[in-house]
Amino acid sequence: MRIADDIWHRVRKLREAIEQHNYNYYALDAPTIPDAEYDKLFQELQELEQHYPQLITPDSPTQRIGAAPLKAFSQIVHRMPMLSLGNAFKAAEVDAFDRRVRQTLGVDSVEYAVEPKFDGLAVSLCYEGGIFITGATRGDGYIGEDVTLNLRTIRSIPLQLQADGYSARSPVFMEVRGEVLMLKADFEKLNRQQREKNEKEFINPRNAAAGSLRQLDPGNTATRRLTFLAYGIGACEGGNVPRDKHSRVMDYLASLRFPVARERNVVSGATALLEYHREIEELRERLPYDIDGTVYKVNDLAQQEKLGFVSRAPRFAVAHKFPAQEAVTELLGIDVQVGRTGTLTPVARLKPVFVGGVTVTNATLHNEDEIRRKDVMIGDTVAVRRAGDVIPEVVAVQKEKRPPHAKFFIMPEHCPVCGAKAVRLPGEAVTRCTGGLFCPAQRKQAILHFASRRAMNIDGVGHKLVEQLVDNAIIRTPADLYKLGITALATLGRMAEKSAGNVIGAIQKSKNTTLARFIYALGIRNVGETTAKDLARYFGALDRLMEADAEDLQQVPDIGPVVAQSIASFFAEGHNREVIEQLRAGGVRWEEGAGTQQAKADSSAGLSRLSGKTFVLTGTLMNLTREDAREKIEALGGKVAGSVSKRTDYVVAGTDAGSKYHRAVELGIAILDEAGLLQLLQDSQGGLHSTSRNL
Ligand code: IVH
Repeated sequence: MRIADDIWHRVRKLREAIEQHNYNYYALDAPTIPDAEYDKLFQELQELEQHYPQLITPDSPTQRIGAAPLKAFSQIVHRMPMLSLGNAFKAAEVDAFDRRVRQTLGVDSVEYAVEPKFDGLAVSLCYEGGIFITGATRGDGYIGEDVTLNLRTIRSIPLQLQADGYSARSPVFMEVRGEVLMLKADFEKLNRQQREKNEKEFINPRNAAAGSLRQLDPGNTATRRLTFLAYGIGACEGGNVPRDKHSRVMDYLASLRFPVARERNVVSGATALLEYHREIEELRERLPYDIDGTVYKVNDLAQQEKLGFVSRAPRFAVAHKFPAQEAVTELLGIDVQVGRTGTLTPVARLKPVFVGGVTVTNATLHNEDEIRRKDVMIGDTVAVRRAGDVIPEVVAVQKEKRPPHAKFFIMPEHCPVCGAKAVRLPGEAVTRCTGGLFCPAQRKQAILHFASRRAMNIDGVGHKLVEQLVDNAIIRTPADLYKLGITALATLGRMAEKSAGNVIGAIQKSKNTTLARFIYALGIRNVGETTAKDLARYFGALDRLMEADAEDLQQVPDIGPVVAQSIASFFAEGHNREVIEQLRAGGVRWEEGAGTQQAKADSSAGLSRLSGKTFVLTGTLMNLTREDAREKIEALGGKVAGSVSKRTDYVVAGTDAGSKYHRAVELGIAILDEAGLLQLLQDSQGGLHSTSRNL
């Protein structure tokens, strides 16, 4: 049957559009259409291909998924070995690296290409004549596993290099190297789904990515969102691949539409390397994926060749690692703590150990099931993990080291704080105190959470103060904080009038907040920061959120029945409504808008004017903290990056702006002062139809 030209045409257009959206989403991290629109395009293409199977080609986006399960992976021998990198942990080691490089090359200063070190799985992707042919894991560096079918399901990996950058002179053969990662947001989503299904959660994005990539059934891999970031080229034959600088190789890969780190840069000298490392460490938590350090590579490829290799690592590159996030120590005992929702959490008391850059003496054991699953006993030698600001946790036991006197842990039957009965509901992993807000521990935790940095951000309202305030019956709920006077605080004795004044000042300052922070601060079970942001974006106003029933709540992207139910139950509780009323009456306020629920109809893109725009902040702002500026930009869909690159849209320069400002000038990037930023934010808000209203 001859297929009409218009159908051919439509199929081609759909494929182009879908790959373009894949690229925007995964490589540029700047989607231009909502997920639902993307799904529609995809479905239309699938239907056309079902109708006209002769139209299906291997490079169609629909063919990324759908290969049959394998019995085992076969092996692939790498054309060029995939080596490892030498490590540096301290500044002195970075200095020594730079010195060695300079000495070997006989030069005074060396230019380095610098990048984050991605914490994923190394893979090699082979393209022949511009077509993705095979992909393999690193394996032992010489032989890896053939995971081609699984890699094909990763939408940021081009199946065909036909985009702008590919010309007739492109390589006959090219091996692109990089890491497969799971974005933090996708990892959280995956674990949220696992929780909803009562299935085991993954420990970290790296493990989740590894587990997903090594599935024998590519159909399973396709259900997990993985992504890829390129960091170099391996074997290569022919073509117009740059041969002079690593940074140009990376630009070339980017032009072929491979995702590369936005944060890559070129700097000279050891001091600049260390400054880059600090910047990236500062940015680490806000990056969409996990990293475990930075990588410095001599930029000049001729110099790289001259430096050569030592054993299995290049002399021209080094990985500057962040402090290890895991360490081994002894478990001295297990205490039980009561959380803000009454959860009884077994906490390991540890022999002090240095991990993640600090000394750790306590780590969570999560719950009874986890203790059984990991088979933890008091007296064991355990591995402890501390990643960023996350609470340290016991991840594993070294059973071979278990002493004969090791003790079994039993969960108490009563709350250790208020004595109320502790229950574990069927199907739940946690044991809870039934004392509710009568339990002082729960009350304290709720208040502490409310005041915490990522919630209402009230400086000075910490453990000790809350403990005293609650124990002396000065406050009972978060709303009582706003009724506190200096005299009440001063009666605590411990506090000088000046610091009491500071605390009151911080409480007053916290009144101006955002809806997302406020929702998060309420401490609703299962509502973390991300969900709070999702809710704020969707509803735009607190009253609309409070009125939503469990069914409405499930309309919010990523919210399932369990989370929806805990939100609905929270707002159904009279006591909670009362506290919220008191908070509003006490002057807590935020800006409200229509929310995407309403805005959806208005803007077919469903996105604000700042969406996809990248900002870099530098220097001191007068009226906003950097954190405030970042929040406001993000609330409107923009992003804030740590360093200036060609992809930066705006540099916001305060007073004393330094090298970033000069780089922006050099690259011809728009520079805003603080007033300019505020104006832009205001204009962009118009795009979301926000009505600002004080509560
Ligand atoms: S360059 C000769 N750049 O780290 C090896 N590697 O510890 C050159 N890695 O096997 C590798 N991010 O899998 C390079 N930006 C980056 C990287 C990176 C992560 C991994 C890579 C390598 C391992 C070495």
